[in-house]
Amino acid sequence: MRNERSDFASKLGMVLATAGSAVGLGNIWRFPVEAGNNGGAAFIIIYILCVLALGIPLTVAEFVVGRAAHTNTAQAYKRLGGNRFWRQTGKLGVMTGWFIMSYYIVVAGWTLAYFFKAASMTPSSAEQAAALADNGYWERYFGAFIAHPLLPIACMAVFVLMSHFVIVRGVEKGIERFSKVLMPLLFIILIALVACSFFTEGAAAGLAFLFKPDFSKVTLRMVLAAMGQAFFSMSIGMGCLCTYASYFGRETNLLRTALHVGMIDTLVAIMSGIVIFPAVFSTGIRPDAGASLVFIALPNVFQEAFSALPWLGYAVSVLFYALLVLATLTSVISLHEVPTAYLTEDFHLSRRAATTVVTIVVITLGTLCSLSIGPLKGLALFGRNLFDLFDWTSSQILLPLGGALITFFAAWILDRSILRRELTNDGTLPYGHARLIVALLRYFAPFVIFLILISGLGLL
Ligand code: PHE
Repeated sequence: MRNERSDFASKLGMVLATAGSAVGLGNIWRFPVEAGNNGGAAFIIIYILCVLALGIPLTVAEFVVGRAAHTNTAQAYKRLGGNRFWRQTGKLGVMTGWFIMSYYIVVAGWTLAYFFKAASMTPSSAEQAAALADNGYWERYFGAFIAHPLLPIACMAVFVLMSHFVIVRGVEKGIERFSKVLMPLLFIILIALVACSFFTEGAAAGLAFLFKPDFSKVTLRMVLAAMGQAFFSMSIGMGCLCTYASYFGRETNLLRTALHVGMIDTLVAIMSGIVIFPAVFSTGIRPDAGASLVFIALPNVFQEAFSALPWLGYAVSVLFYALLVLATLTSVISLHEVPTAYLTEDFHLSRRAATTVVTIVVITLGTLCSLSIGPLKGLALFGRNLFDLFDWTSSQILLPLGGALITFFAAWILDRSILRRELTNDGTLPYGHARLIVALLRYFAPFVIFLILISGLGLL
């Protein structure tokens, strides 16, 4: 039974929107940090294996559930014959969406603020000269910025409103239309930045760090970190892909689409590494500078890496933060859509009303998250501030848990004829490659996801 809902109108729009969900802070901010902390190239190789063996099969599983059910993620499991337990699984996905969005939009707000900051710091400005002369400048700036009672919250709210503006227009006129503009723009900027990075002094050292593997760095922990990163980066485990797939047409090749999205996502992550590490090595900053890399080390790094051509350094800096804003926006849009689809379909709200409810709730939660690392820093819950708590709970527990449940459902509970029908588009595509994916989903994925979960809980 097909209900009245708009679908993606074109194949390109569908792939770009789904890739837009995947490509985000996870690729440009988190991936280089993880690679930097885990020895560079060896991590990247393990990461690619994780994407192939785990990320793509799980993406396919979510696609199958979403397209077969043709409804929001909470309803999907019920419609496909799941009992009450499985209905809760869908709701868990929606809840994870609220969690991730609440802290993700805080960082999204920072990217917006840094974009405008970078644009204001022209090479001739006094502030730029001061920042270059002072190593502690950005650390103080960032500290003061996140501690400000209003500024980060205002930036976060503006960011959510941008996403609101898109979501309210619906799937085809909103998500698809904007993805078709934002994603190509993102690729153009990224390619320009990669080209520039080859001209930095540290290009050789940075590229060697990224591409010369040192396998002595491979540990179980590192493999688990790579898996966790693949989950987050590919938006797996919370119903985002399931929701988007519910807008796919019957002719969409699910396997191929998962492969394309996985490839685009990995490519963007590696290209971000190519932009960041040569610049980092040009200035002698440690590549494992951690989460602060993007907001403390990088603002100066690009300017220093191109010190002979200050306007080029300026352009690279502004473009880099524009890239972050674009990538983050398409991910926030996909996060926004999950609860919006749920509220419209399960609570029969109009799209406008549902989007507004989501916007208000996440701005409220985001405000609390932002305050918890700023003015209300002392406030802790289970030993963590709200921001860290949301981040940790969602990426270490809820996403792997959701991923495990989705996989189990698709591989073991879902009627096999539905699985086969979705993977072969009603028998028009060969089942050959799908066999491998189904085998990975049945026998491999549940076991390794369980490992990620217990490691996330600190039991490993
Ligand atoms: N995949 C996004 C990123 O890499 C984050 C995300 C996770 C988006 C889950 C939607 C759902 O930044």
